[in-house]
Amino acid sequence: MGQQKYDAAILGAGVIGLSIALNLHQRGLRVAIVARDLPEDIASTAFASPWAGCNWYPFDNTGDTPSSARETITFPYLDKLSTAHPELCERIPFYSVWDHAKPPGEDEVWFRDIVGSYERVTTNIPGNKAHGRRWTSFILHAPRYIAHLASELRQAGVPIIRHSLSSLDEAYTYSDLVINALGLGAKWLPGVQDDKVYAARGQTILVKAEKWKKVCVMHVEGFNPAPGQKLPDPAYIIPRPGPDHHFILGGTYLSGNHDISPDPATAERILRECKALMGDTDGSGQGVEIVSHNVGLRPAREGGARIELERKVVKGIKVGVVHAYGFGSAGYQQSWGTAEEVAGLVDRYLGKERAAL
Ligand code: FAD
Ligand code: LAC
Repeated sequence: MGQQKYDAAILGAGVIGLSIALNLHQRGLRVAIVARDLPEDIASTAFASPWAGCNWYPFDNTGDTPSSARETITFPYLDKLSTAHPELCERIPFYSVWDHAKPPGEDEVWFRDIVGSYERVTTNIPGNKAHGRRWTSFILHAPRYIAHLASELRQAGVPIIRHSLSSLDEAYTYSDLVINALGLGAKWLPGVQDDKVYAARGQTILVKAEKWKKVCVMHVEGFNPAPGQKLPDPAYIIPRPGPDHHFILGGTYLSGNHDISPDPATAERILRECKALMGDTDGSGQGVEIVSHNVGLRPAREGGARIELERKVVKGIKVGVVHAYGFGSAGYQQSWGTAEEVAGLVDRYLGKERAAL
């Protein structure tokens, strides 16, 4: 504590910690990352980031919320990424579909102006669903994208230190300012132990399907049902960027469920519904080859993500922590907006708090 080798230490090397580290480094700060699971640990179920679908798909239809603000900032960032690295990020056609018809007013989503064209489809709706919208958005290759962020950081000389923290206070040995991007770790780490954090289990199947078009189809009205509410099981197809004909088929959103083994009956249901969404109704399978069955635990939080600067005194020394966790289903699509928001809080801490030390 008090050595100030780093202006800030970022705890966590998922998409949130990595994005924050890159953003702060680009602003000229000396930063280091400290984390138990690193981006190269793509088989680790102890963090969420390798398991994301992964796309930019807002779940909040109202807009004017902290999450929509972060998504608004991340969208043009992904646009630039897709130009520089099409193997990591690509803009493709999207369909959102529902089992029940919706009144026309509900097509007026806040992100309509961001995505450019967002229109109702009345014919050839995927899966013959009752209601559909067509638009375009971004898909990301989650494991490759976090590996890319780590590689950029390492090339820039930012240390990514493997270490499992046993308390938040321990982190102040790296810097008096730490950024808590610990995902589900925020539920358990002494010094944080946020009871609002919960795991939301997501089961998926990675398939290779050479005959499928590169379109994303989302039937996710069953995400986040209110207690007692009966909604259809979610099903979605998210293609991966690149030439591999890989698709992530989802999914589930099971709150408080930490089981990381894929459930065979759920896998069967996902495969059946996703094939129907892709128009495979003759049972031929269209050459769909299963690559792997997967489960990821989303770090969700009641009330949404926490981004907040907290000041403390630890062993008589003034320290600061910027919390940035609890992104649930939306860590990638909010990543750059989160990094910008955190940078603002870091500025506030460095400009005022540290000057007073
Ligand atoms: P994590 O990736 O969980 O990283 C947490 C980090 O903290 C890790 O490095 C971990 O090792 C470290 N850590 C924890 N505890 C400790 C400790 N005690 N000491 C040291 N280090 C510790 N998001 C989207 O935006 N779009 C999508 O399409 C999408 N699809 C998804 C599909 C599925 C099936 C799943 C599971 C998730 C999906 N997500 C999607 C959500 C996204 O994956 C998460 O929101 C995101 O990965 C969270 O990132 P994070 O950095 O906050 O946490
Ligand atoms: C998920 C994607 C759809 O969380 O965001 O499964």
